Amino acid sequence: MKRTKIKKILTGLPAGEEIVVKGWVRTKRESKNAVFIALNDGSTIHNLQIVADPAQFTEEVLKKVTTGASLSVSGVLVESQGKGQSIELQAAVIQVTGEADPEAYPLQPKRHSLEFLREIAHLRPRTNTFSAILRVRHAMAYAVHTFFHEKGFLYLNTPILTASDAEGAGETFKVTTLDLEKVPRNEHGEIDFEQDFFGRETNLTVSGQLEGELAALAVSEIYTFGPTFRAENSNTTRHLAEFWMIEPEMAFYDITDNMDLAEEMLKYVVKYALEHCKDDLEFLNERELQEEKNKAQAERNELSLLERLAFVVENDFERISYTEAIDILRQSTPNKKKKFQYLIDAWGADLQSEHERFLVEKHFKKPVILYNYPRDIKAFYMRQNEDGKTVAAMDVLFPGIGEIVGGSQREERLDKLVQRMDEMKIPREDLWWYLETRKYGTVEHSGFGLGFERMIQFVTGMGNIRDVIPFPRTPGNCEF
Ligand code: 4AD
Ligand code: MG
Repeated sequence: MKRTKIKKILTGLPAGEEIVVKGWVRTKRESKNAVFIALNDGSTIHNLQIVADPAQFTEEVLKKVTTGASLSVSGVLVESQGKGQSIELQAAVIQVTGEADPEAYPLQPKRHSLEFLREIAHLRPRTNTFSAILRVRHAMAYAVHTFFHEKGFLYLNTPILTASDAEGAGETFKVTTLDLEKVPRNEHGEIDFEQDFFGRETNLTVSGQLEGELAALAVSEIYTFGPTFRAENSNTTRHLAEFWMIEPEMAFYDITDNMDLAEEMLKYVVKYALEHCKDDLEFLNERELQEEKNKAQAERNELSLLERLAFVVENDFERISYTEAIDILRQSTPNKKKKFQYLIDAWGADLQSEHERFLVEKHFKKPVILYNYPRDIKAFYMRQNEDGKTVAAMDVLFPGIGEIVGGSQREERLDKLVQRMDEMKIPREDLWWYLETRKYGTVEHSGFGLGFERMIQFVTGMGNIRDVIPFPRTPGNCEF
């Protein structure tokens, strides 16, 4: 007989049905007349209760049914006598497919710390919290694709191996096949990348944007959704060395169209999660409430996870210029009382996460889109405004996260773009192909990047970005 997944059993199979179920034991409880096994197969947060009559099974089999062991069980579904479930499986045959020595198995049926679970990332998907996150992550990826597909955007695969550093921040991981013991040198004593695999210096991509623009300037609207690599040495709860980014790029969009699209997309995916991940989000909501009991009042969220998600879907984001934000921050209590780590004194300062979160969580109490940033703190490709000092950049700031989206209208005027590249010492010859799109049939266009893991953090309420990607890569950590 084919196995039936637990989600299907719990959401609709009638009593009397004969089935086979396969999964991993969460807990076992024994009474005189019955053994109760909670089995989970990851298709849902809920376990299937299996009831075994100890008289029908050998001691040897029942002894092997321990937390973490894998089972194949056949039997008949019956209406449950107990509380907590409406249906349960009366076991006829129990096959222990893989034992899990209870002395050695690291996951016990109790609450483990997230730090400990990171050390056993190979097993943490077997916990309620992580399987819920994996399911939500999947649903969010599906929602992203659905959103863009329904709008007629093309999913574009941009290269992971590249010779450019799109953001110009110099945080790339080098890619080479040169023998590091005997690195070849040219006549100037520099590393001779001509002998390297691609005949030039290459790295892992920090963004698919530049290639995304090339396609948008042909098929109008595209998006990328791929892995992104940044060697920034920031050990924070919001940075990964390998993360996934969604980068839409649209011809004939100005900065306002860009903001409208970002807001619509964020609302769409959050709404999708609320509608399609109900059980998992209710579990994560409860989990957060429990965690917050150990926190000081000031550190607790004013709204619960589910309330925060509904809030984002139902309310317009606040849109203010960088200049207005600086005025608010300068006048703010934490700035005056020197509570910010980085005090805001002058226009032109780069905003830190503490400032972004102040604006979102304390001042406006809603998501904020900041636009028109000083050009000196932004990338070369952003469109220069008439004032001569700002660019048409936009960042979306979210509660608990800070920056979740970064984007801009792009500089479509060849002369202005080249002038800015020269000022920032970006060699024209490296980006000759990018410049040609401005030479031939250039048009107004815009785009942005959404950090997928930061989005998952928001939707799941997880405080640390290492807990929303299956196998996190951070400075000093590339296990699994
Ligand atoms: O603001 P960023 O650097 O923008 C770009 O890369 C543009 N090329 C996007 C575009 O316009 N097409 O990154 C975009 C988003 C950030 O807002 C953040 O959510 C996420 O990517 N991000 C990271 N997420 C996890 N770990 C990191 N190290 C991240 N760096 C950026
Ligand atoms: Mg940014």
